[in-house]
Amino acid sequence: MDRCILGIETSCDETAVAVINASRVTNLLSSQIDLHKPYGGIVPELACRRHIEAIGPLLNELLRRAGCALTQLDAVAVTVGPGLIGALLVGVSFAKSLSYALHIPLLAIHHLEGHISSVFLEQEDISFPAIALVVSGGHTNLYKMPKRGEYYLLGKTLDDAAGEALDKGARLLGYEYPGGPVIDRLAKQGNPIYPFTIPHRAGGLNFSFSGVKTALRQMLQQENIKKDLPSFHADIAASYQKAIIESLVLKSLLALRQNNANSMILVGGVAANSLLRRRMQEEGERAGFSVYMPSPHYCTDNAAMIAMAGLSHLERGVFAPLDISPHPALELASFS
Ligand code: KG4
Ligand code: ZN
Repeated sequence: MDRCILGIETSCDETAVAVINASRVTNLLSSQIDLHKPYGGIVPELACRRHIEAIGPLLNELLRRAGCALTQLDAVAVTVGPGLIGALLVGVSFAKSLSYALHIPLLAIHHLEGHISSVFLEQEDISFPAIALVVSGGHTNLYKMPKRGEYYLLGKTLDDAAGEALDKGARLLGYEYPGGPVIDRLAKQGNPIYPFTIPHRAGGLNFSFSGVKTALRQMLQQENIKKDLPSFHADIAASYQKAIIESLVLKSLLALRQNNANSMILVGGVAANSLLRRRMQEEGERAGFSVYMPSPHYCTDNAAMIAMAGLSHLERGVFAPLDISPHPALELASFS
């Protein structure tokens, strides 16, 4: 029988709700980007308050668009971590209330499991074993996935996440948060003529992006860099982006080879990056592995991915108790 699952995501600066009903996805999001812009970063207390204001009306609008009544929901899935504790608490408390009042199961979802599940929104059959690169503003992790729902951490960033490095680089160039999409857009008009070395090349499956950010800062301070050239921003964005993306590609290929994997799963906000998508496709065609990545609007934070992960928990009977607490630094554990 088709199940109707509600997904809720409030781990950071997006209030997001979604319903998956008979494979049909209805997805709604209220972004807080403008609220935090004047502060140059996310203010946790403001994020939490805005989630409280937004979540009720957003759910009503979602149900209206999905043509679904509250009483038709079969389960509620919610992000329990990692993320901002106050922000997570809003979603988790809301989900618990629904679960209790409607007598439906509560499904506790790890944010990164949500990202990985985003690929199943548009793709049913994936050939395992796979390597999953989860690359966002908060994480840059490589996992081995022998099958769906099983994750083994192979490598991660030792400092900044790739998205964070793109955001900070864009800020050094004078652009507002989030800088990743700005760098992506600028880079399309430029050429990678400035020399940045591929970050942490010899670091096995771990990443490090703080050095390339310092290299950009130092380059911008150099007198002889031709900052008055009209193409300067585009060329420097293309060069900086290339170094970061090549590091992601290089280590993903190493993980694939070392683990004899035949598929690559690419998820998280930075998976929306056009160069990363193109480079991974090229490498897949060259080396003969399949590349799975969600459409760009499912790469950044959303609740459809949480509902999708929830569907899988429901099918496996993995339910959460009503006294569960959110956790700001939750590790991704496997279940089978
Ligand atoms: O997954 P996400 O929405 O939130 C976190 O869980 O962190 O990812 C947000 C990150 C930001 O760093 C943003 O700059 C980056 O994803 N991002 C991009 C692009 N779109 C979003 N980075 C590069 N190119 C893009 N097109
Ligand atoms: Zn995320």
